[in-house]
Amino acid sequence: MIFGRVKSLDSILATAEKKSLHRSLGVFQLTMLGVGAVIGTGIFVLTATAAQKAGPGMIMSFVVAGAVCVFAALCYSELASMVPVAGSAYTYSYAVMGELMAWLVGWALILEYALGASAVAVGWSGHIVGFLDGFGIHLPHALTVGPKIDWGFLEGGEVGGFINLPAVLVTGFVTWLLVIGTKESATVNSVLVAIKIIALTLFAAITVPMIFGHTANFAPFTPRGWGNPLGSTGTGVLGAAASIFFAYVGFDAVSTAAEETKNPQRNVPIGLIASLAICTVFYIVVAAGAIGAYGAQPVMNPATGQYFVEGSPELYASAACQSATAPLVCSKEALAYVLRQVSSPIFGQIVGLAATIALPSVVLLMMFGQTRVFFVMARDGLLPAGLSKVHPRYKTPYVVTIVTGVVVAVAAAFLPVGTLADYSNSGTLFAFAMVSVGVMVLRVTDKDRKRPFRTPAVWVVAPLSILGCVVLFLSLNIQSKVLFFAWTAIGLVLYYLYGYRRSNIARGVMDSDDETGSAPLV
Ligand code: ALA
Repeated sequence: MIFGRVKSLDSILATAEKKSLHRSLGVFQLTMLGVGAVIGTGIFVLTATAAQKAGPGMIMSFVVAGAVCVFAALCYSELASMVPVAGSAYTYSYAVMGELMAWLVGWALILEYALGASAVAVGWSGHIVGFLDGFGIHLPHALTVGPKIDWGFLEGGEVGGFINLPAVLVTGFVTWLLVIGTKESATVNSVLVAIKIIALTLFAAITVPMIFGHTANFAPFTPRGWGNPLGSTGTGVLGAAASIFFAYVGFDAVSTAAEETKNPQRNVPIGLIASLAICTVFYIVVAAGAIGAYGAQPVMNPATGQYFVEGSPELYASAACQSATAPLVCSKEALAYVLRQVSSPIFGQIVGLAATIALPSVVLLMMFGQTRVFFVMARDGLLPAGLSKVHPRYKTPYVVTIVTGVVVAVAAAFLPVGTLADYSNSGTLFAFAMVSVGVMVLRVTDKDRKRPFRTPAVWVVAPLSILGCVVLFLSLNIQSKVLFFAWTAIGLVLYYLYGYRRSNIARGVMDSDDETGSAPLV
């Protein structure tokens, strides 16, 4: 029955038409939006996590994660061009697989966007702390990292840590910007993208030439093997790919902006694929440069002969990480750290500064994505309508924005970046897989509808995308997998308690005509 609760594509498109946001984005701005949302904590910080999981083989991890995203982006593109409305994977699922799946996808997108924003905020914190350190300003340790947590199902933080205050502050700042309706102007976004590209180019220009004198740094290439998706540790090349997948997340911001795009049929697919292509090339070159210039071998616990868990309190407290020439895997600002070690500290500071300036915009875009998804879910009656309340003066959905801000800040205050990124990935992988299923289902159930962009070789590409998402999901560590299933179970309970009875479809209500409260993205 539930699967029968499908929102017709025509009604979604009609609602979008009625409440459409101003269409102002072109292909260049969309690509910039994609690159702006994608390059962030993943490459600047999680390179260290990937190195502890896979060693130099993390280059392959970037390739694997990038390939899965390309397949998923091709599927996204077909749906985004057919259903160019806000809400992304959630909206597509509503049209194709019905309300329950849509709810579960929307619920999983909370992991993607909210916890993703927390991860980036923590990544930002690592950079501002390192940057200030570079000038001899040392913030108290207890106020810059979360507490040591070792609960079995959750592990992280550091000895002596209490709260990650910089991460909380940046989240508060971004929440305030969103409440007062600050949208990143296209110009600001382009400047920030340029800053990130210049930083990565500088990094590559310094480190890549060093590869030639240091090819030994690439051996052993896969010290921890390829990994076992059915195991629980989430290590090896595939384990690292599952984590570093975070570095690619955000390209779907392009499809989320479809409702605000000029000629979305053509521009959205181009924007998605172009932004992904640019990022993939940068990531692979930067990873190779980091390995060649400084090395990226994982660190072993000499007492046990086992590798440390990435980002664990024990790793940070180890003799290796306490030394002046600590390995890459110990750093919370991997790229800036490598440059400080292999070239002049000034270059390290420049890259650190670039990340410090640019990462808040990634937090902003992810939190913005979250408020949009909440907003559309409330519009559909699956969440309380009060959430989509619009501020009388700023005309922004301020309730949903503040709720999002509090969730993001609490998670960022106490959890480590790698854990947050892995949790976020679990939700994203589910959403991507569902989009890929959706594209095939629609090819069968609605084959005559106009498809401005058709996923090439869909019967190969969509299954590959699903397979890739499943393999990466299984390659996450056991804690992230358990969290995902627990989160989904909570979502199911909430659906039956609330959305099942209250959704517009359940009540036979046509889409409401309330104010949308949504200002254009840029
Ligand atoms: N891909 C984004 C980042 O790495 C979320 O920060």
